[in-house]
Amino acid sequence: MKYILFIFLTLSNIVHATEPISPIPCKIEYDRQKALLGYRLFVDTTLSSDKTTSCLSCHDIFQTGGADKNVVSIGVQNRIGNIQSPTVLNACYNFKQFWNGRARTLYEQASGPIHNPVEMDMNTSKVEKRLNASDEYRKLFHNVYKSNSIKFSQVIDAIVEFEKALTTPNSRFDKYLNGEDVLTKDEIAGYNLFKQIGCITCHNGVNIGGNAMQKFGLFEEYKNAHTYPDLYSITNDPVYKNVFKVPTLRNIAQTAPYLHDGSAKTLKDVVQQMARYQLGTKLSDKEIDSIVLFLKTLDGQLPDILSQEQ
Ligand code: HEC
Ligand code: HEC
Repeated sequence: MKYILFIFLTLSNIVHATEPISPIPCKIEYDRQKALLGYRLFVDTTLSSDKTTSCLSCHDIFQTGGADKNVVSIGVQNRIGNIQSPTVLNACYNFKQFWNGRARTLYEQASGPIHNPVEMDMNTSKVEKRLNASDEYRKLFHNVYKSNSIKFSQVIDAIVEFEKALTTPNSRFDKYLNGEDVLTKDEIAGYNLFKQIGCITCHNGVNIGGNAMQKFGLFEEYKNAHTYPDLYSITNDPVYKNVFKVPTLRNIAQTAPYLHDGSAKTLKDVVQQMARYQLGTKLSDKEIDSIVLFLKTLDGQLPDILSQEQ
């Protein structure tokens, strides 16, 4: 009997292992001391020219799933950005960073907002000067990097280490994949529909996205009065017009508004738009509700590091 139960349990896990979405690992590797320093920098407005804006201003990891509740982000001097801020949670699983994938790694990405004139509007030497003026930061950096003066590359290194810690395991859906928790019949029906109609072709893998570039508007041209930095804007090849990174759907219930232009206010809106533009179909209200139920099971656990003393 024991053996039969063992075989059954093993098999049930194998079934989940064949799913096109994989759970976020519960154990992750990062340097804790560096990451705690990175956490401090992430929430510190000292890194912006007028000391009003930190990474947290546009990537609220406590309230809005690591994204921004504004349609487009607002940076220093209330300067208005040109695109919706994506989440930093689980960004370490993305194959590239930014909507148009222009940064290959988190290291490449992180100096972007610090230098961007409408975001934090600083430069390498200003950041070094400000931080070196603080006895406390000099001490903290010395403890981690053993050097007497703070270098910009160390600032980026610490922030990236913090970002590596920003994963959200143990969503109800991941527990279901691991055979630990049972979803309701309706939630499973929503997941099955998500697979059947083809959402899964683009939104799959550990981040349920974040692993491919795709045209937005495959079946119908997506028109917007404004132009946004798509892949075309960096390649100048018209084939890449309206091509963006497929975003992660992890914690998606918390990150409204949606899409690169922030035009979809609710999950219902965005699911209908995806069906229309990416799959060339119209879903009934019941079908949309069903997929939304599934999407709500993707809320994960807040990263451990956020409950640590900085
Ligand atoms: C003023 C708002 C603002 C600030 C401040 C800001 N960001 Fe962002 N962040 C954005 C926007 C907007 C994007 C998307 C830009 C694009 O794709 O062209 C973005 C993109 C990102 C991404 C890529 C995520 C993805 O899925 O592609 C990461 C990672 C990130 N930011 C981390 C940071 C860090 C670290 C800081 C602080 C050093 C920071 N951000 C400061 C608004 C902001
Ligand atoms: C052909 C690829 C493709 C298919 C199929 C697809 N998506 Fe998307 N999805 C994308 C891309 C690309 C974006 C980013 C669109 C943009 O530029 O704003 C996106 C964005 C989203 C977003 C918004 C994420 C955010 O943070 O703003 C949600 C939610 C979403 N998709 C859900 C779905 C659902 C549900 C389906 C099935 C009905 C689906 N997608 C089908 C490629 C796809």
